[in-house]
Amino acid sequence: MAIAKVGVVGCGLMGSGIAQVCAQAGFSTVVREVSAELLEKGLKGIEKNLGRLVEKGSLTEAARNETRRRLKGTTSVDDLKDCDVVVEAIIEQLPMKRELFGALDKLCPPQTIFASNTSSLPIIEIAASTKRPQRFVGLHFFNPVPVMKLVEVVKTVATDPDVYEQMVAFGGKLGKTPVRANDGGGFIVNRLLVPYLLDAVRALEEGVGSIVDIDISMKLGCGYPMGPFTLLDFVGLDTTYYISQIMFDEFREKRFASPPLLKRMVLAGWNGRKSGRGFYDYSDPANPKPMEL
Ligand code: CAA
Repeated sequence: MAIAKVGVVGCGLMGSGIAQVCAQAGFSTVVREVSAELLEKGLKGIEKNLGRLVEKGSLTEAARNETRRRLKGTTSVDDLKDCDVVVEAIIEQLPMKRELFGALDKLCPPQTIFASNTSSLPIIEIAASTKRPQRFVGLHFFNPVPVMKLVEVVKTVATDPDVYEQMVAFGGKLGKTPVRANDGGGFIVNRLLVPYLLDAVRALEEGVGSIVDIDISMKLGCGYPMGPFTLLDFVGLDTTYYISQIMFDEFREKRFASPPLLKRMVLAGWNGRKSGRGFYDYSDPANPKPMEL
């Protein structure tokens, strides 16, 4: 089956990035948000990204116009009915994802392939809300989607091998490097990344070093683009806490358990960059200051 038209559900941070790369890669793309305001915000972000690429000379004006032409926004799920692939990137709540896919299953033709961008929920549990679990995969992108080169393609116990290979190839067509992952908690990246981030918080709790010194150590000592606290603020403390709970529930191992400090910060609403405060204070976004914790 040739993939020509892609639906993306959710035009937030991840969904807008996914819609952008799909449209840039030549796919006719329709992205759906729940409200006109949220849709406009997401589409404005895409427009800004494309503008930056044109300014830098990495996208021609003609290619930007082609991308714009291929990309449509909507607030109606019905507009996804003739898509060959639908990628979901809505809020990380299982009942909402199951409800969405239940509706899409009734709407889309039987050959449409479904994919979820969830970072931690079991793909099979979402797929089981449809009558086509064999045509369901995980397609896990990384933030910022237009920049990060990886996509994890997740196979469940029910995924048809031909569908899976088609989605691995689709990941490549989006300009990403696809890796094959099984449907185990956190797939590959979060299985390794989340314990590392949680350990950084534990190291801070134990006085191993300051926020800034731990960040500098991992940047300069290991060549990571961001230290763990900068990355935690970037990903979102609430998101990391949520993923850790799901992974702890799955594995029952201490390395996936959230340290008390992380939980307290989330309870306080200090979710990182997006809330203006996390391990750093972003009152002056160009010059974040480490928090006194
Ligand atoms: N959208 C689009 N492009 C962006 C961008 C964004 N939000 N942020 C940065 N860029 C682009 C810049 O325009 C720039 O492009 P050029 O090289 O073509 O000029 C490039 O990315 C580098 O940006 P900067 O020079 O401004 O800054 P930087 O070198 O520090 O890079 C970064 C920024 C790419 C975010 C880098 O710091 C990085 O790779 N950080 C780690 C990010 C990471 O680990 N992400 C994964 C998080 S885990 C996850 O997403 C999964 C999960 O389930 C939780």
